Amino acid sequence: MRIAVFASGRGSNLRALMEAAGTGYLKAEIAVVLSDVQSARALERASQQGLAARFLEPEAFEVAALEILRNTAADLICLAGFMCILSGDFIQQCGVPILNVHPSLLPAFPGLRPQRQALEHGARVSGATVHLVDERVDHGPVIAQTPVPVFQDDDEESLSERILRQEHRIYPMAVRWFAEGRVLVEGRRVRIAGAPA
Ligand code: GRF
Repeated sequence: MRIAVFASGRGSNLRALMEAAGTGYLKAEIAVVLSDVQSARALERASQQGLAARFLEPEAFEVAALEILRNTAADLICLAGFMCILSGDFIQQCGVPILNVHPSLLPAFPGLRPQRQALEHGARVSGATVHLVDERVDHGPVIAQTPVPVFQDDDEESLSERILRQEHRIYPMAVRWFAEGRVLVEGRRVRIAGAPA
């Protein structure tokens, strides 16, 4: 499996995927890392590991990305802190599944700053979700989720850190299921072949 990672920021989820591919936990190759932010730490991390890493102008991102995806023969796109909303046209034209990791238990708290949303709502539990991307933001079928407690004295930073540790665990796991061909999507419901019922 050849993965294209789209990232806009610090790239800790990219790092988790690179490590998983490096240790052989994930039998896949990160073929290219693309960013809409020139200064993204994610691009630096990718280059340091010898991966192809490209900044694409945000205005022309999708057109350029489609061409790169074709040239790199990517089978899967992983969004990892990618802050642009992909258009329906792109999602259809790219021809490969797109995964995203989101720091809440979707469908609770979609969109921006979900950790802050969870705190403001007074939720006792939040979490992390890996899902397929469809044309609505943070909406597609759920592949993997894990709950994370919200403590009384949490602030946005402490909750984000606790959730992030779980993102780093479940994202490589979900991508591994894809690489193993075990992800069966039936409408909104996803079955993982070989997993306990
Ligand atoms: C993560 O919390 C991810 O779920 C969200 O943005 C953050 C990106 O972190 N979409 P990083 O760039 O992977 O470190």
